[in-house]
Amino acid sequence: MSTVYGGQLDEDIRVIIDGKTVFCPRNSSILEAARIAGIEIPTLCYLKGLTPTGMCGVCAVEIENEDGTRKIRRACRYRAKDGMVIYTNSKKIDEYRKERMEKLLAIHPQDCLTCHKSNGNCKFQKVANNFADRYNLEVKSVKVPNRGTDDSSPAFVREMEKCIACGRCINVCNEVQKIKIYEMYHDKKTGDKYCRIKGGFNLKDTNCINCGQCVKVCPVGALTEKNGIVDALNAIDDPNLTVVWSMAPAIQNTLGEEFGLPTGTDVTRKIAAAMKRVGAYAYTTDFSADLTIMEEGTEFIGRVSNGGVLPMLTSCCPGWIRYMEYNYPDQLEHLSSCKSPQQMFGALVKNYLPSKINVDAKKIYHISIMPCTAKKFECQRPEMGGDYGKDVDVVLTTREVAKLFKMRGIDLATIEEEDFDSLMGCGTGAGRIFSSTGGVMEAALRTVVWKLTNGKIDTIDYVAARGYKGVKEATLNINGMDVRVAVVNGIGNVKPVMDDVRAGKSPYHFIEVMACPGGCLNGGGAPLTSEPAMIGVRMDKTYESDKNNKLRRSHENPEIQEIYKDYLGEPCGHISHHILHTTYTDRSKTVKH
Ligand code: SF4
Ligand code: SF4
Ligand code: SF4
Ligand code: FES
Repeated sequence: MSTVYGGQLDEDIRVIIDGKTVFCPRNSSILEAARIAGIEIPTLCYLKGLTPTGMCGVCAVEIENEDGTRKIRRACRYRAKDGMVIYTNSKKIDEYRKERMEKLLAIHPQDCLTCHKSNGNCKFQKVANNFADRYNLEVKSVKVPNRGTDDSSPAFVREMEKCIACGRCINVCNEVQKIKIYEMYHDKKTGDKYCRIKGGFNLKDTNCINCGQCVKVCPVGALTEKNGIVDALNAIDDPNLTVVWSMAPAIQNTLGEEFGLPTGTDVTRKIAAAMKRVGAYAYTTDFSADLTIMEEGTEFIGRVSNGGVLPMLTSCCPGWIRYMEYNYPDQLEHLSSCKSPQQMFGALVKNYLPSKINVDAKKIYHISIMPCTAKKFECQRPEMGGDYGKDVDVVLTTREVAKLFKMRGIDLATIEEEDFDSLMGCGTGAGRIFSSTGGVMEAALRTVVWKLTNGKIDTIDYVAARGYKGVKEATLNINGMDVRVAVVNGIGNVKPVMDDVRAGKSPYHFIEVMACPGGCLNGGGAPLTSEPAMIGVRMDKTYESDKNNKLRRSHENPEIQEIYKDYLGEPCGHISHHILHTTYTDRSKTVKH
């Protein structure tokens, strides 16, 4: 018999799992104790770090009573107790798990071949596959309850017939994002149970910010991003259209994962090659992230120098913008007027590029690749376009573009690297780190502090902005003035900060907010992991990519310098104000619950 130690020994309890003695922290669940011992228990509804819902039952184990008899318990939800004897394999457990899975399968649509979540992304399918041989699963008859589909959001679709009532989306929206949209609904007449929007409303009637964190954790195809692949392929195959691709900084250190490459691998120039292989102009939004710094940095310096509204709040994240429009419509003047990098890029694609490549703006189709479901909403805002149509014609998430590349026979793991096209294909390290929480702030400081001190302070690494903490802050002495900045990591941490702003008590001059915990590297459209440890690896690799770039400040980008000389004039100048800045809308009255 072996012994495994985990946690602080003096606070530990001792349990015996499958004959193995395990020391684990006092408040551990049986599942956590088993993991310390390296014993794998299958799970479906469990999400590490959140309150276990205990809904699915596939984590069943047996615990021994004092008289030697045993009872079934759900390992994710049941606390380990000192001296407890636990079994993770037995005939009774097999029967219990088999019955639970068969019950779930008997009311689940059997359309795995065409489901958007399949292709390795459906956890339910994986568990069912694993159980199929082991438990000889049998589904004699399938009766799918009629629960309807909510297609009212531009960001994602709710196919409620596929819901297995695991409660993961509820937990993420309640406990992480703290928006609290969903509830578990129990239809007393039919006995049916599934997750719905509180009060039975549709997404368009709620204050959902489209962050997609619920989409990411849904273990089935009940929540999926709105499909953009069909529109993108139609445009690619249309000989009358010129296709332009742009790709967010976060894509470059995450897309490789969809092709089996190690977490965080930098595949920037492979993506450029893939875009060109599909047939299009290949660009990177790192460029317009640099442009954002030029505009937002200038706006901030202007506000500080001219007694403008402070603190200034960043405006790159459409989930955060929507949160402000719903919850703090009286504070919108604090938001920077800069469009997000996606929309700045789109405005240039339709207003600047046509004369450069000699194509009518109406004949250009712009595909934006984003780790973000909220960007699908953002590109449809009425102010994001002109008489030529939309600035961004379609947004594909990271997961969608992986599918599209695969459909065209492209393997990112093996494709040879290529360069981006010129004009808007160059990005600095500052542009790249926009993908991580704190990255926008750090990129802004690299340029703002350098400019305000005429290069006397040339710090590159503002490490206080980095990391996974909910609210990060720093004070910088610039020309004798203490400038206080803060970074809010995840929308669930923003309320106290914004309440202070509303009360006029905020100590800060400049605040970055990104809706997704960890930033866009953990966006709702990114490859499916929300584990902080994995997001941490993506962050480390992103800062490595930044360090490997010869250009690390946005104002050093030669194509940025060129576009101001050739077209924009100066940051926050006349043309910039017209095409790169925007306004916001009070949406508080549109919410029905
Ligand atoms: S997209 Fe975000 S805010 Fe909307 S329901 Fe999902 S987790 Fe909640
Ligand atoms: S919608 Fe998805 S995440 Fe939410 S309860 Fe249903 S299956 Fe679970
Ligand atoms: S943090 Fe990034 S991925 Fe998440 S909603 Fe904001 S822009 Fe989108
Ligand atoms: S994983 Fe424990 S009940 Fe679902």
